[in-house]
Amino acid sequence: MFRHAFIERNATLLLILSLLVVTIGGIVEIAPLFYLQNTIEKVEGMRPYTPLELAGRNIYIREGCYLCHSQMIRPFRDEVERYGHYSLAAESMYDHPFQWGSKRTGPDLARVGGRYSDEWHRDHLVDPRGVVPESIMPGYPFLLETPISGKDIANHLRANAGVGVPYSDEMIANAPADFAAQANPDAGDVDAFQKRYPKAEARDFDGQRGQITEMDALIAYLQMLGTLVDFNAYKAEANLR
Ligand code: HEC
Repeated sequence: MFRHAFIERNATLLLILSLLVVTIGGIVEIAPLFYLQNTIEKVEGMRPYTPLELAGRNIYIREGCYLCHSQMIRPFRDEVERYGHYSLAAESMYDHPFQWGSKRTGPDLARVGGRYSDEWHRDHLVDPRGVVPESIMPGYPFLLETPISGKDIANHLRANAGVGVPYSDEMIANAPADFAAQANPDAGDVDAFQKRYPKAEARDFDGQRGQITEMDALIAYLQMLGTLVDFNAYKAEANLR
């Protein structure tokens, strides 16, 4: 009691002791993080982007889609009811840089995959107002006319591997073949591709057979967003704990 009064009346001592207490509190909070392998909970189903999806993602970034669209569903009831299960940290663990965004002029796209047909996406990207009359989204008709080749895609995989995405040497070596097989399954080895990228869909995304365009890549990317984690299985697992 007396000692406490002594400390409180001695400003320097109070300051030193307060600093000591805050330091201990800080160490207790921060130190364990250095010993954790991973602060992201592992979730079944996550895989790195396929070469074609990665190319589509690069187009998404190049065109600035993130300026109007977020990819992060917050754990609030209104968002979950509109967009689906809230986003998990693991779902953007292979995103370099992440695409959470900070502004929603248009809807969140974190779970847009599978919600619309490929044709819908193609028509919408070419002329948004042709599909949604009140839309203020710009059109991107040139994507349909811009061919894209997988010749430099291996370097993109290699760059991602450099920052920790688990692309194997085999994936990097086969990147151009996988790129072509996903967009033009008639001409490629789809089985080998799907072995490397489980659950990846291979088809002609832009509706122009035999030709791979930027539209193929962008739609392949949009159609896989939010589809990797099986949330029925994820919920069951969480309830067991
Ligand atoms: C100027 C802001 C803006 C930009 C830039 C923009 N969008 Fe949009 N987007 C919107 C708005 C507003 C809507 C809602 C109306 C509509 O469906 O067109 C929308 C809707 C969408 C939808 C439908 C989402 C849903 O759940 O209904 C998709 C998919 C989409 N945008 C993709 C893209 C892609 C891909 C790009 C980049 C190539 C892009 N947008 C760029 C504003 C934008």
